[in-house]
Amino acid sequence: MYKVSLLTRDGATIAFDAEPSDTLLDAAERASIYLPSSCREGGCGACRVSRESGDVELMAYSSVALSEDERMAGDILLCRAQPRSDLALRAPFDEAAVGFAPVPKRRATLVAIEPVGSGTLRLQLQYKDDPTFGRAAQFTAGQFIELTLPDGSSKRSYSLANAPNWDGTLELFIRLQPHGAFSDYLRDRAAIGDTLLVRGPQGQFTLDEASAAPRWFVVGGTGLAPALSMLRQMGEFADPRSCRLFFGVNKVDELFALDAIDSLKAALPQLVVTLCVWKPEKEWREFTGTPVEALAQALLTAPERPDIYVCGPPALIAAAEEAGRSAGVPHDRIFSEKFTAA
Ligand code: FES
Repeated sequence: MYKVSLLTRDGATIAFDAEPSDTLLDAAERASIYLPSSCREGGCGACRVSRESGDVELMAYSSVALSEDERMAGDILLCRAQPRSDLALRAPFDEAAVGFAPVPKRRATLVAIEPVGSGTLRLQLQYKDDPTFGRAAQFTAGQFIELTLPDGSSKRSYSLANAPNWDGTLELFIRLQPHGAFSDYLRDRAAIGDTLLVRGPQGQFTLDEASAAPRWFVVGGTGLAPALSMLRQMGEFADPRSCRLFFGVNKVDELFALDAIDSLKAALPQLVVTLCVWKPEKEWREFTGTPVEALAQALLTAPERPDIYVCGPPALIAAAEEAGRSAGVPHDRIFSEKFTAA
């Protein structure tokens, strides 16, 4: 048995024991410590922390979740690391991101499913009444849920696109993947009335309410979902702070949720939206290029440095971080959530 201590970004120390055959994530959970995670199989990077001292053995993982540079710098994935000595770890999140009770598991009914853009579906789920949680969809705007297929065969995490609400509604935008188990279900078998298991809410990609800086959202494809959730929440609170949305897709017909974006502009009159299409095949009046290119241009003339919220594929996040850094946005004012295909 080894001793593990994890120092959070805000200086709290979290300690637990781990057997050599445990992953650090499982060992923490046995001690009722629920550390940030998503896929639990080395694919997403949500559980990445830095190793200050001690040794681990890393099981197989994707380079999307942990790059070679990150590994060389001492980073590890909690869901893939087994201890080989006592460990001192440093986390990129605050103590508030750590749960001390299991993530809730609830059941939800599929109430709507419709195509909304080439290759993208909009899903609406409705929580069933639950003796512990009631009906409400309580979460923090920007968080995600993990869905399990009705037959239990596959799980997948998706960001919520709507704001928290009392009637238990969950809205998701899902990009169909050619050979994804979840995509196959949605394409071929999903039916209104299906019951899905929901594990959540989870995730730390949420608004920093303590900051007064403008909020800029840079999103690719279904990375729009958490930004929509956060902006809708701002709209409900009539938040007066300056905000921008850079929403990018590859082709014009992949754009979706434009009606939702229009409604947002009514609720948040100060919101400036830039629709970005990388390869527009017909006449296109808005930005041609990636949302990161639009971000970089806008930063050139921005009167103050914004907080930047980025969501999309790993390459988009890396490019947005680089654009932000070279325009003088401090590293800790860039918040991100990686979307990986599955
Ligand atoms: S939870 Fe560990 S990489 Fe996804």
